Amino acid sequence: MTQRSEFEKVVYDGGFRTLLTAEAIDARIREVGRQITEDYRGLQPIMIGVLNGAFLFMADLIRHVEIDLEVDFIKISSYGNAKVSSGIVRMLKDINADVKGRHILLVEDIVDTGGSIKFLHEKFMALEPASLRFVTLLIKPANVETDIPIDYVGFSIANEFVVGYGLDYKQILRNLPAVYVMD
Ligand code: PRP
Repeated sequence: MTQRSEFEKVVYDGGFRTLLTAEAIDARIREVGRQITEDYRGLQPIMIGVLNGAFLFMADLIRHVEIDLEVDFIKISSYGNAKVSSGIVRMLKDINADVKGRHILLVEDIVDTGGSIKFLHEKFMALEPASLRFVTLLIKPANVETDIPIDYVGFSIANEFVVGYGLDYKQILRNLPAVYVMD
């Protein structure tokens, strides 16, 4: 008999609590998209997704931002395969665009300790953009150790390990359509 996959355990065995349904995520993304549309009209922002986690959020969000915008990606890593953020951020892929004088929106899936956005803030401010703001689907306010403002937040969540909708457990479960709590 084949072993049950982690995906099946989450979706069919009910071993994990659903934190955010696909419908709730979609509804909130539409609101955030509307807000960004209003705030960036005429500015042609460059939205930079932070890989890997933000790829789904980014793809869904930009379809609700109804203005001209550009897209790029940066890949960084702070967790590795651990469940707790290591605190050390490594850049694995840089952006390609020239962002000097541009309006940058950095798109994260989750802000946990804030180590990643601190790293990104420092890196992008040095490139002299016209403006720099952060968007995140999820934030754990109890864990954040930086006072860099997050301008657009999908959901504030408790300090629990979450998977799905781009967020992984040992690189798998990113393809779950909802967000689940893994105990
Ligand atoms: C996760 C997440 C954020 C960061 C948040 O990335 O995507 O970038 O950690 O944690 P922090 O606020 O404590 O820095 P991870 O390193 O797991 O890489 P991944 O996006 O490829 O899963």
